[in-house]
Amino acid sequence: MASSGRNVVVVGTQWGDEGKGKLVDWLTETATGVVRFQGGHNAGHTLVINGVKTALHLIPSGIMRPGVTCYIGNGVVLSAGKLLEEISGLEKAGIQVRDRLRISEACPLILPFHVALDVAREAAKEKAGTAKIGTTGRGIGPAYEDKIARRALRVQDLKHPERFAAKLRELLSLHNHVLSTYLNSADLAWAEPIAGYLKNGEIQFDAVYDEAMAHAEEILPMVGDVSRELNAAHQAGACLLFEGAQGTLLDIDHGTYPFVTSSNCVAGNAAAGAGVGPGLLHYVLGITKAYCTRVGGGPFPTELDWLTPGTPGYHLSTVGAEMGTTTGRHRRCGWFDAALLKRSAQVNGLSGLCITKLDVLDGLTELQLCVGYMLDGERVDLLPMGADDIERCTPIYETMPGWDESSVGVTEFDRLPLNAQNYLRRIEAITGVPVHMVSTSPDRDHTILLHHPFSAA
Ligand code: GDP
Ligand code: IMO
Ligand code: MG
Repeated sequence: MASSGRNVVVVGTQWGDEGKGKLVDWLTETATGVVRFQGGHNAGHTLVINGVKTALHLIPSGIMRPGVTCYIGNGVVLSAGKLLEEISGLEKAGIQVRDRLRISEACPLILPFHVALDVAREAAKEKAGTAKIGTTGRGIGPAYEDKIARRALRVQDLKHPERFAAKLRELLSLHNHVLSTYLNSADLAWAEPIAGYLKNGEIQFDAVYDEAMAHAEEILPMVGDVSRELNAAHQAGACLLFEGAQGTLLDIDHGTYPFVTSSNCVAGNAAAGAGVGPGLLHYVLGITKAYCTRVGGGPFPTELDWLTPGTPGYHLSTVGAEMGTTTGRHRRCGWFDAALLKRSAQVNGLSGLCITKLDVLDGLTELQLCVGYMLDGERVDLLPMGADDIERCTPIYETMPGWDESSVGVTEFDRLPLNAQNYLRRIEAITGVPVHMVSTSPDRDHTILLHHPFSAA
């Protein structure tokens, strides 16, 4: 009998964009399958291989390694159109995708009205003067709402045009009502592509249906029972990599609610979002930037002024090239927050950390490390739950010396500047989670390995 494989979950431990894509790609030297289990094309994962950059949104970051099978699990909300765009972009670059990509038939579909609702809601908040979430405008939240309300159109419905049409009519009657009466969609200035589906503020059935049926033809050959395929691969000895999107502080339950995304981004959801038992998740790697960034609204205790030249925040923003992969928005920047990481370690059960973008700190004279907060006159050592309490937190910092030497491209821990080594050791000591990997540039090869996540010891 074949022995079953060892599996690793990769999660973001902050507010996303920690460098998950780079590390997932690196780990595919060992893994034979990569699985996305939540989120949608709100994700933007960047891979740099031999100087060539690839940005992935829905397709797992194993696609650049020939022979690796990529899976989109049931926990992902899927825009068939965006997936096909991404596939053809990769095909143009000479990457074979269709025979290596498997899509769960249980994925809820993102359809144009979800995008319209997402955009119209943010516009309504802006008009009312209430804080916008700053979503990616990709329809993620509304698609998950339909899933939880048990009315979503799923990938498997694409196989049955009549069933698809009936469900679509029902969904459109609800969402068009909300769009036109509650969100005043007829008065909004719509951009393409959504403008093309709208007439008098309502999404037109024919436009959505015809397009979905055209997508179905291309998508269905890749659709299957991903849960069954993953369990079979595991039994046959495959090493599987579960690729998280977003980050723990964007998790719908454990993040800075309501300034979060609409899925569980924590490691435990790898099981539910892929259709495997939790016992198959053997190791959890927490990808952690050597400082913090966040895109969109919501509290960020250690945020710095990142706009003024000459400030540490400006250094992080510019040297770190902190610009969103998906929306091109600037990422807000701030100091490393160890009290936040403790929350992440707790809710993910982290086995080890990979500290990324350490090189971005090169040249800073001093580093501030947040070790806790003052909240309503009391000291707390763990990030509180939810935006309201986090908003009132004032960080308590420990100061550490920076370093002048370059760490760019270093591949051995002992060759890092001494103060950089001390910084990493201090993070380990405060959070209680061992640093197992370090990343020193966007390039696949510029990675320090201290303990291999796929090794059983
Ligand atoms: P993800 O969403 O977690 O996959 O991260 P993104 O790809 O959105 O953002 C991380 C950015 O940092 C990308 O542009 C990466 O190429 C880049 N990056 C990853 N690791 C490193 C690193 O160690 N050093 C530097 N300077 N850049 C890195
Ligand atoms: P990756 O996988 C960073 C943020 C948005 C917004 C909030 C809700 O690349 O790390 P949504 O469109 O999901 O409803 O937006 O979540 N957000 C991300 N921020 N990285 C991401 O993905 C993100 N995906 C969503 O900016 O604040
Ligand atoms: Mg990203």
